[in-house]
Amino acid sequence: MNVSILGTGYVGLTTGVCLAFLGHKVTCADADAEKIAALGRGEVPFYEPHLADLIEESRHNLCFTTDYATAIPNAQVVFIAVGTPPGAGGAPDLQYLQAAARGIGQHLSGNFTVVVNKSTVPIGSGNWVGSLLRESYEQKKGRKADGTFAVASNPEFLREGTALHDSLYPDRVVIGADEAQTAEVLYSLYRPVLDQTFQPPPYLPRPEELGAVPLISTDLASAELIKYAANAFLALKISYINEVGQLAEKVGADIAQVAKGIGLDARIGTRFLQAGIGWGGSCFGKDTAAMIATASEYGLDMPIVKAAREVNRRQRERVVEKLLAELRILKGRTVGLLGLAFKPQTDDLREAPALDIAQKLIERGARVKVHDPVAMERFRKEQSSLEVVCCATPEEAAQDADALVLVTEWPQYRELDWENVARAMRTAILLDGRQALDRARMTRVGFRYLTLAG
Ligand SMILES: NC(=O)c1ccc[n+]([C@@H]2O[C@H](COP(=O)([O-])OP(=O)(O)OC[C@H]3O[C@@H](n4cnc5c(N)ncnc54)[C@H](O)[C@@H]3O)[C@@H](O)[C@H]2O)c1
Repeated sequence: MNVSILGTGYVGLTTGVCLAFLGHKVTCADADAEKIAALGRGEVPFYEPHLADLIEESRHNLCFTTDYATAIPNAQVVFIAVGTPPGAGGAPDLQYLQAAARGIGQHLSGNFTVVVNKSTVPIGSGNWVGSLLRESYEQKKGRKADGTFAVASNPEFLREGTALHDSLYPDRVVIGADEAQTAEVLYSLYRPVLDQTFQPPPYLPRPEELGAVPLISTDLASAELIKYAANAFLALKISYINEVGQLAEKVGADIAQVAKGIGLDARIGTRFLQAGIGWGGSCFGKDTAAMIATASEYGLDMPIVKAAREVNRRQRERVVEKLLAELRILKGRTVGLLGLAFKPQTDDLREAPALDIAQKLIERGARVKVHDPVAMERFRKEQSSLEVVCCATPEEAAQDADALVLVTEWPQYRELDWENVARAMRTAILLDGRQALDRARMTRVGFRYLTLAG
């Protein structure tokens, strides 16, 4: 099929490249000319394992443009994958979605086109995008839009860091549409993923246990709600274990064992039960806020989702409180932060806990040194106003520090020569914000080893 993707961010580019790999002809369009020029040169604008390899492999089916007149008229399916960042009062800022919808409407050829909301959008956005498309098409063409397009919802569940794996081997595909004809276009598009009929690239092997991928076919509103409900549930799980972690600290229990003990119950599951600093990133914060905002439009309160957000906010404060309790005075102290990205295997800094923690420490008069294996360049570009010392190595961040905080559990941090790290510090205090290191080993090499759960 001829497919166009609007927005070449983490979601849009991944989706476009995977569809091109599966044999579709894909045009990726973005409003950011620099990004498109970089993609044209074969450069990937963000860190995502194997994305460059798959672009290379699928190049014959891919083209990049800033021009809707190139992207829209020949497309049978147009995905909207633009950002929906947090807006005022918790509801997402829909200006990019609005601009994309209007742009599509102006360039539709009149042949039937399925326009798909892949961005995470508030419930009701399918209808809203439909009305924007209709309005701009009719204004531009001076004739009725009936039969020229239909809107579908196809929420995305990929995780940055494993985005390609998640797109080629998803747990499920959700398609929301109010007419069968619309949904069928998307079944055809996703057929190779649903039936797993493609030959996997060598660096992205198919999981052995994977059979056919379940398809959830719903109306528009249900598909939109599935995305919010899924993210809110994952956020709840993280905040739940962090709340239990606070109690574990008080009673002297081992939260890692507690998490394992409850997680092995198949009804609960072990994932998203690692106690620590909590979630960051562009999705959980924004999507829980959006869900609460939507509910309040209907006069509904969502106390459980609100509590998950509050527990998550508190975890960041608890990092500073822990350091204060250990060091007594933060003014004039040096604190090293290991990890800036909101999680390992990405350079995404949106709502990253490290930024918040650094800011809070600076406000209390501490000097902050930071290191990240892949996000330093993006950090310098996006966070130039944050007054921290950027370090080329984790050892440099530890040098003469009064405390070190492991904020992002990059695997390379586990392999550090921790004995040397401890020796380089003024006081060997290590707050393992992700419970990623071995307490006995860290204590043995000379650290005072702390976590947020004891
Ligand atoms: N990042 C994730 O892990 C993830 C996972 C699931 C869902 N989502 C959702 O997917 C959506 C996109 O997220 P992302 O992380 O890929 O965002 P992103 O910020 O990385 O990318 C968005 C892109 O859209 C482009 N853009 C903005 N306006 C445009 C327009 N009118 N036309 C064309 N391009 C335009 C921007 O230049 C940018 O490159 C969001 O709604 C997000 O909530 C994200």
